[in-house]
Amino acid sequence: MGECGCKQTQDQSEVFDIDSVRILLEGYRGKEEELVHALQDVQHTLGYLPKEAMEMIADVFNLSFSHVYGVASFYAHFYFVPRGKNIIKVCTGTACHVRGAKTILDGLAGELGIEPGQTSSDMEFTLETVSCVGCCALAPVVVVGEEVSKERTPKRLISSIREAEDGKE
Ligand code: FES
Repeated sequence: MGECGCKQTQDQSEVFDIDSVRILLEGYRGKEEELVHALQDVQHTLGYLPKEAMEMIADVFNLSFSHVYGVASFYAHFYFVPRGKNIIKVCTGTACHVRGAKTILDGLAGELGIEPGQTSSDMEFTLETVSCVGCCALAPVVVVGEEVSKERTPKRLISSIREAEDGKE
């Protein structure tokens, strides 16, 4: 397998706390069956899986980088580029599709100036689609972080997130 295709920079080690990852991974040494858990732990710590962190995992598990990347890329919930502070997921499952998910998705994309799958340049928002999240009765469903949003329009949803952010400062 060739390059992973992720847009990493040479100095990514300056962007994340490499020592915390090293300490975390020491707990996995000798536990080959725990590879996926290690990937989850690292992503939970960093928000994504930088190439350098996957190289460290490969070293700890005595595997090749290609093997580690191959396992990580098999699962849809691993990410190889940084994501925004606020993750907005629009459900495009059948019930949500029928009840206007596409309009909401297009509205959010327009509001944020990004396409689904992209992150805003200020790293505030990532817009994603997701299949049924199990709340079809509430369709169309938009999930912000871990919560189903109560806002019904893209503009209000973005405003409420920004207001919540301002309230934290
Ligand atoms: S289809 Fe969207 S929650 Fe089920």
